[in-house]
Amino acid sequence: MKVAVYRQAHFNAAHRLYNKNWDEEKNERVFGLCNNPNFHGHNYQLIVKVVGEVDPQTGYVIDLKRLKNIIEKEVLIRFDHKNLNLDTEEFKDRIPTAENIAIVIHGLIRQHLGKQYDLQIKLYETDRNMVEYPV
Ligand code: NI
Repeated sequence: MKVAVYRQAHFNAAHRLYNKNWDEEKNERVFGLCNNPNFHGHNYQLIVKVVGEVDPQTGYVIDLKRLKNIIEKEVLIRFDHKNLNLDTEEFKDRIPTAENIAIVIHGLIRQHLGKQYDLQIKLYETDRNMVEYPV
C-alpha cells in the first residue's frame, strides 16, 4: 500500500533568463522582463513529494525529519538568498527557468533516496506559475 508524503520549503533567489548564444535583441524578445540584465528575484515555493510503502516497523513512508534535512542541505543552503546565475555551479551553463530548477532539485534530492521511493518536485515561481517534474 503506497502513500504519498509531502514536505514544503521556501527559498528566495535572483535570476536572469538569458541564452548566451543569442544576441541581446533575441534574448529580450524571447525572455521579456525575465531577461532584465540586473536580475530580479522570486519567492520560490517548493513541494517535495515522496511515494513509497508504509514501513510496518515505523508506520512511516519516510521520516520527514530526514527529508527536511535533505532539503535544507541540498536546496536551501545551496540556493536560498543566492543569485542563481552568478552564485551557483548548477546554473553556470543552464538557464535558471523554473523547469530547470525543478529538474536540478530533483537530482539533488534523488541521490539521497533509495530506489523504493518515487520522488516528484513541484516548484511555484509565483502564485500562478508552477512546474512539476517528473510528470
Ligand atoms: Ni523570473
